[in-house]
Amino acid sequence: MYKIAVIPGDGTGPEVIREGLKVLKAVSEKVGFQYETQVFDWGGDRYLRTGEVLPEGAIDELKKFDAIYLGAIGHPDVKPGILEKGILLAIRFGLDQYINLRPVKLYPGVDTPLKDKGPEDIDYVVVRENTEGLYAGAGGVLKKGTPDEVAVQESINTRKGVERCIRYAFEYCRKRNKKKKLTLVGKTNVLTYAFDLWERTFYEVAQEYPDIQTDYAHVDATTMWMVKNPEWFDVIVTDNMFGDIITDLGAMTQGGMGIAAGGNINPQGVSMFEPIGGSAPKYTGKNIINPLAAIGALQMMLENLGEEKAAELVDKAIAFVTGTKLKSLSAGKMGYTTSEVGDMVAQFIADA
Ligand code: IPM
Ligand code: MN
Repeated sequence: MYKIAVIPGDGTGPEVIREGLKVLKAVSEKVGFQYETQVFDWGGDRYLRTGEVLPEGAIDELKKFDAIYLGAIGHPDVKPGILEKGILLAIRFGLDQYINLRPVKLYPGVDTPLKDKGPEDIDYVVVRENTEGLYAGAGGVLKKGTPDEVAVQESINTRKGVERCIRYAFEYCRKRNKKKKLTLVGKTNVLTYAFDLWERTFYEVAQEYPDIQTDYAHVDATTMWMVKNPEWFDVIVTDNMFGDIITDLGAMTQGGMGIAAGGNINPQGVSMFEPIGGSAPKYTGKNIINPLAAIGALQMMLENLGEEKAAELVDKAIAFVTGTKLKSLSAGKMGYTTSEVGDMVAQFIADA
């Protein structure tokens, strides 16, 4: 019996999570596993009502679950940073989810802006460090609001944090068993302290993985290759900030935010799965947002729980819907409503 914490969150979060849970029900009945869910109302509306981002003891409460399923965090009436730091980053850091796993995969039938590229070319995974770097919150401000204001925001890179991330990436690459190539993405030509640590650690750990081919690319060049030659990549490992940026680019090449999913993973603890697109306030409540990103996040959650068969089935169902049903992945242009897309995925699973 899996215990799953559900945080629908803000904007379109609840709509897409509803479809994800529909698919979870269908696939659990099909392959035969049991689960229970507990819903938490954390997000912008609750914050505006109570002034509290996360209630006390929230992180400890989450430790009791096998996985967390998150919709979206971000509210148009709340100043940027409050909910992101107070909820999303607080959970990532609080549960030490040190990996942000983001597949960039073009499903059949999906339009990519990359000319002449197809599903066989766009299929790689970004392993983003998820607890350090510029996100660690180190730094400060002096003389704020004066002409002499000084703002310092430091990138924190620890040997432990870098090594566990790199090690995870090597293991993941081996398990994935495709091109067996791991690319470190950094900026060794300028960030000569931080990425020197990354580079040394990368090649040291690589000694233990002779079956994995290693490669290095600067982050700026990486954005070129992601557009021009995405087929070169298999698994990428990089720091928090670079990983944040390049995975938005990656998401666009796989058809956009309607399909991009990610997992915040603590291999020894509780992991959290989310569509990476955000709360999309302008589409909220219209039943037109694409739920496939949330369904993709569910697929990753199932894989992480060890329900391989269920995960495979959900993956096939997504491919069926993109390949034979949807006109577009964009909100309002799919040719179906949010709930109809969820229904089609669930039906495919039931019929499988
Ligand atoms: C993401 C988001 C978050 C991040 C924000 C909302 C804090 O952009 O999940 O990529 O920067 O990590
Ligand atoms: Mn981001």
